[in-house]
This record gives sequence, C-alpha cells and structure tokens, in this order.
Amino acid sequence: MKLIIGITGASGAIYPFQLLTFLREKTNHDVSLVASPNGRRIFKEELGKDLEMFDYPLFGGKDFDVPFVSGSAKYDQLVIVPCSMGTLGRIAHGISDDTLTRTADVFIKEKREMIVVPRETPFSLIHIENMRLLALSGVTIIPAIPSFYSRPQTVEQTAATVTSRILDHMGLENNLMERWKTPPLLASPQGGR
Ligand SMILES: Cc1cc2nc3c(=O)[nH]c(=O)nc-3n(C[C@H](O)[C@H](O)[C@H](O)COP(=O)(O)O)c2cc1C
Repeated sequence: MKLIIGITGASGAIYPFQLLTFLREKTNHDVSLVASPNGRRIFKEELGKDLEMFDYPLFGGKDFDVPFVSGSAKYDQLVIVPCSMGTLGRIAHGISDDTLTRTADVFIKEKREMIVVPRETPFSLIHIENMRLLALSGVTIIPAIPSFYSRPQTVEQTAATVTSRILDHMGLENNLMERWKTPPLLASPQGGR
C-alpha cells in the first residue's frame, strides 16, 4: 500500500512513534510522512526524538511539490495522528493551504481511506461539529482515548491500546494490545456483560 502519515501539533507523539515503528519493523509499505512545524516540535519535546529517525520521505509546510497533493496520484490511506483541532478544523472547512490539509482535501474528494486521531480535552462545540463534518465525509475518527480492559501497566502499553486500533482500521494485523477476552467471573450464565 501507499500510505501517508500526517503528524500535527497535538499532544500524543507516542502514537505516531508506535505506528511508524510498527510500519518500519513489520511491513514493507510505501510510507511518506507529512509533519506540521508544531508536529515536529511536539514529537521532539515529548519523545526527545526526530521524525527523521524512521528514514521515510518527510514533507511539510507548504511543500506542494509532492505527488499526493493531486488526485491523479494514487495513494491508498492517509492517517493523521495526532490530529490537532486546528488541522481538523481546516480540513473540515476545505482550507487546504498547506501540504497536509491539501492532501486531506484530495483524499476526501477522491473518497479514499482516511483516518484522523484527534486529541483535545474538553471538546468544544466547534470541535464536535468539525468532527461531525469529517465523519459525514467518510473519514474514520479514532480519538486518542486509551482503553483499560487489557490492564495496561506502562505508558507504552496504554498508548498501544489506541495505536492497535488505528492499525486495525488500516487493515494491518497486529498484536500491540491484548484483545478482549471474556473474564471467567462475568461469563457465568447469571453474570452476563
Ligand atoms: C505543547 C503543546 C501541546 C499541544 N497540544 C494540543 C492538543 O493536544 N490538541 C490540539 O488540538 N492542539 C494542541 N496544541 C496546539 C497546536 O499545536 C496548535 O493549535 C497548532 O497551531 C496546530 O497546528 P498544526 O495542526 O498545523 O500542527 C498544542 C500546542 C503545544 C505547544
């Protein structure tokens, strides 16, 4: 597959870190990265690492000299992780004034697979309305909200409960998190769930 991973300036650099580590170590997909200036900055601040570490082509800013800003170039999936409310709002309203928002605009108009992983708290009505617009446009919204039923013990395991679900929706088999199993106590005929 030809994949584009967008990284913006929301908190949660651990999610693209885990996703890109998986893609690099477990797959041979054709991956391009598009990062906003704040995306790069927060990746560095939260992890002390640079996106160059993955050795994938890295684009950003207003760089329009890249194939995927046109619908004529066939790419399969766009994942924006984490997705700031700024980028999400610009995409929802068709403001495609940089590489990433234009790429998203192309994916939506071409009806290609697109996932966004928004992170903000609390959500304002504007955020919710913008997510609604994207959902109506066929975008899959996977909020950066971890789950705890697998009893994660570390920050990495906790974050992996989100990363694993992103990979699931990309159609990539993974065992980054323990899947749900029916606990014996609740499996009794009286118990139910
Ligand atoms: C340390 C830090 C953390 C931030 N976390 C978030 C966040 O979790 N969600 C969000 O929507 N914006 C967050 N922001 C704000 C965005 O980085 C800012 O709105 C930026 O203009 C988004 O632009 P971009 O989407 O092009 O990266 C954060 C900014 C900083 C400096």
